[in-house]
Amino acid sequence: MTLRKIFAGFLPTAAAWLAVMAIAPALAQNYPTRAITLIVPAAAGGPTDAVSRLIAESMTRTLGQQIIVENAGGAGGTIGMARVAKATPDGYTIAVWHIGQATAPSLYKDLRYNVIDDFDSIGRIADVPMTIVGKTALEAKNIKELIAWIKANKAAVTYAHAGIGSAAHLCALMFMHAINVQLTAVSYRGTGPALTDLMGGQFDMMCDQTTTTAAQIKGGKIKGYAATTKQRLAVLPDLPTLDESGLKGFEVSAWHAMWAPKGLPPEAAQKLTAALQTAIKDDKIRERLAALGADPVKPEQATPQALSAHLKAEIAKWSPVIEAAGVKAN
Ligand code: MLT
Repeated sequence: MTLRKIFAGFLPTAAAWLAVMAIAPALAQNYPTRAITLIVPAAAGGPTDAVSRLIAESMTRTLGQQIIVENAGGAGGTIGMARVAKATPDGYTIAVWHIGQATAPSLYKDLRYNVIDDFDSIGRIADVPMTIVGKTALEAKNIKELIAWIKANKAAVTYAHAGIGSAAHLCALMFMHAINVQLTAVSYRGTGPALTDLMGGQFDMMCDQTTTTAAQIKGGKIKGYAATTKQRLAVLPDLPTLDESGLKGFEVSAWHAMWAPKGLPPEAAQKLTAALQTAIKDDKIRERLAALGADPVKPEQATPQALSAHLKAEIAKWSPVIEAAGVKAN
């Protein structure tokens, strides 16, 4: 083939490439020009879903394009987050996850992504307290009776979580460690469906977030035994904390944040971060989060830099806890 023919064959591709490079900045400046997928790495109806849909509603208004929530549950959120890590970094795939992003590296030795290098931080959203809850058929009337019953029945007691590395799993690990009893786990693709089964008495108990448990405790559909925070909860003031009930220092809550695949165009990253911060500053959104027991972060905690620093600190904090619990997902 002559040089002319090779060059002629090459020219259209080069022209196309140059054309794309010329309009790329304009495309980014007009971002977003179509709907954005928000991956929730847990089943619909759970705490992460509840927080995500609230934020998505506000960001849809701010960005002028639909934020479509897509649930991709399983394996403690690692299936959904792997999908996000591999997605095109064009600003049209984002994710909301939580403390599980910090625990996954310690629990999954062959995790298919790097929780720091494969994601761009968009910002933090809210911290959500957790509650020890049980089926209504349990005879235990309070946390002290529940712990006594658990110690008497040990592995006969069943508890649910949303996969190894989920917030429900981490909280249960800490609870079992604190009372020195191993319980039998029932794994779900999210604590939304787990809560439905708890109301149906399918298993004995779980540790789940107030975003979904508070209403069911108030409605008498499940029994609330304790909160996992240092202070009692405004949404459940009669619920004692584990700390005050003898498990001194017990404290865990599920912090939630937004990420995107690594390498976003700067304009997309800036617009996503600004839209998330608008949501967190919106009084109505803050009221609705607070009504679910969630504590929206302060604007200065919501920056991408603050999230990156928080994630690194949380990885360092939970790694020895998980090591001590001797738990590995694979
Ligand atoms: C968790 O335990 O990680 C969450 O509750 C999962 C979910 O939002 O379903």
